[in-house]
Amino acid sequence: MFAIEVENLQFGYKEKIIDDISFKIEEGKFVSLIGPNGSGKSTIIKLLSHLYPPWKGKILIGNEDINSLSKKELARKVSLVPQNTLIDYDFTVEDIVLMGRYPYKKKFEKYDEKDYEIVHEALKATNTLHLKDKYITEISGGERQRVIIAKALAQETPIILLDEPTSHLDINHQMEILNLLRRLNKEKKTTIIIAIHDINLASRYSDEIIIIGSGKIIDNGIPEKVITKENMEKVYGINVAIEINKHTKSLSITPISN
Ligand SMILES: Nc1ncnc2c1ncn2[C@@H]1O[C@H](COP(=O)(O)OP(=O)(O)OP(=O)(O)O)[C@@H](O)[C@H]1O
Ligand SMILES: [Mg+2]
Repeated sequence: MFAIEVENLQFGYKEKIIDDISFKIEEGKFVSLIGPNGSGKSTIIKLLSHLYPPWKGKILIGNEDINSLSKKELARKVSLVPQNTLIDYDFTVEDIVLMGRYPYKKKFEKYDEKDYEIVHEALKATNTLHLKDKYITEISGGERQRVIIAKALAQETPIILLDEPTSHLDINHQMEILNLLRRLNKEKKTTIIIAIHDINLASRYSDEIIIIGSGKIIDNGIPEKVITKENMEKVYGINVAIEINKHTKSLSITPISN
């Protein structure tokens, strides 16, 4: 069973950006999108969360056409942690994470004890419980990133899309969040799709990596298949050394020259 199927997807804001992309992601997989700045990773993630309608092609979410799902139905299947979240309103951290519960509420229905319990667990899991009563405008960039991840957890969806979820995080919180995502992936079979620049972390945590270059899929498959000297040269124009890290047993690349 596939969590997501994309067929011949084409999209642009003005000019064409996503150029006839097709891929399938099996349920319960941990998948990373990698590729240079501007290659289209965020655009793909936005299309998968229906922020924009594609020009052409098809997106199936758990066998259902994304166009046939209401906003709330989609929000019960897919949660999104965007690359940049601009929230300037005076919401508290708890308010923001509670918003993750909206797909389960009828219009004007109040949040109940169960919602608060789920929010509490999500705050605990992301190590942000101590920030609960702070305003979102009064916390650091990395704390904010963890709060937005908490909101996605509270949404309790079978698929989570995260656009550079570790970009603002220190080395400890990077591992904490990726370990948390892996735990969700293993224990709840949540399908995790992240855009990430750190190829070593992508190789370490992913079942599959999709390399995006100029709006096309350059390669996809298990890390050992796609993280090659040839692909790194082709996509990033860099010469790398590739080794197996003796501690993590995953691939480790070192840029040598460009
Ligand atoms: N809102 C927008 N309007 C017009 N063009 C856009 C918009 N957002 C992105 N683009 C363009 O679309 C292309 C793909 O951008 P996208 O954000 O998907 O790249 P990315 O792979 O996520 O890059 P990064 O690694 O820098 O986050 C880029 O050329 C970018 O300039
Ligand atoms: Mg991006």
